[in-house]
Amino acid sequence: PAPVVAIVGATGAVGVELLACLAARGFPLGGLRLLASARSAGRTLDFAGRAVAVDELTEESFRGVDIALFSAGSDISRRYAAAAVKAGAIVIDNSSAFRVDPDVPLVVPEVNAAALAGHRGIVANPNCVAAIATVALAPLHRARPIRRLAAATYQAASGAGTAAMEELRASTAAWLHGEPFEPTVLPHPYAFNLFSHNAAVDPETGYNGEELKVIAETRRLLDAADLPVGITCVRVPVLRAHAMALTMTFDEPLSPDEARRLLTAAPGLRVVDDRAANHFPMPSEASGRDEVLVGRIRTDLGDPSGRSLCLFVAGDQLLKGAALNAVQIAELLLRR
Ligand code: A2P
Repeated sequence: PAPVVAIVGATGAVGVELLACLAARGFPLGGLRLLASARSAGRTLDFAGRAVAVDELTEESFRGVDIALFSAGSDISRRYAAAAVKAGAIVIDNSSAFRVDPDVPLVVPEVNAAALAGHRGIVANPNCVAAIATVALAPLHRARPIRRLAAATYQAASGAGTAAMEELRASTAAWLHGEPFEPTVLPHPYAFNLFSHNAAVDPETGYNGEELKVIAETRRLLDAADLPVGITCVRVPVLRAHAMALTMTFDEPLSPDEARRLLTAAPGLRVVDDRAANHFPMPSEASGRDEVLVGRIRTDLGDPSGRSLCLFVAGDQLLKGAALNAVQIAELLLRR
């Protein structure tokens, strides 16, 4: 029989995309339960053209549920995931609550599908940057082990939720009308500006929480526990697609042509690398697309050894960075 699926955080930025992904991919559903806070109880959400009621999340919400997609923040995941597992559901968790738990596989199907086999009721869906970056890194890493990675990100508002997307719209409108605007969701003015990622900064290392997540999760996903990773994460005034510059050093030289061949053949990627037209991955073209866009494939002139390559990548934060990856994990579970 088709599985009963619950979505925790159904009214959020990712929740709404989870619904859209399930519908678009024709995911077999034996039932659909939409859960959110008490504030949303009684609302309805559209699923494939019909209105489905939203219920308040409680410990009893998981009776009869086979797959529970969690996307309501790590506090909610820590509080309710155990109840879902106890009720017999497999949890696919989009929060950071379990991503570095050795008992919980962290999975990007194109990168490490085999890791799913070890799950004990909870599967973690990675941080959006780690998911998007590793789709591009994994095919190269399989051909030549990556020994060092440097990254700079250009991250969209959606990673901070629907309220942050609304703040980007409202602050941009205010700016254009010459009106004052006080940010309440993000810590700095967002319109016509960019700022270091809003996650708290570790006073010891100077790295923020987002950067530390990407480092730990990229290592797990690539099965490269000691991979040295340097990264700077920045929020840019884009609604829903992240971009990133990646520079990697390999064991042995890898030519840009060979890298282009590997990336062209890899699942989940689309090469956008037109030097003549100066057309490379952009958030505007990554938004609403399942594939991660990759381009600017070139030798890193900053490494005279010739063993380093640069890439520029863009991927939809709400799709491959969150909802799509979670639904792909659910599809893998069904196939087992
Ligand atoms: P609600 O809309 O009822 O607040 P986003 O990341 O876009 O901000 O969305 C967060 C999601 O998490 C929303 O669906 C939100 O529901 C849900 N959520 C937040 N707090 C709770 C809670 N205490 N119990 C259940 N769901 C919650």
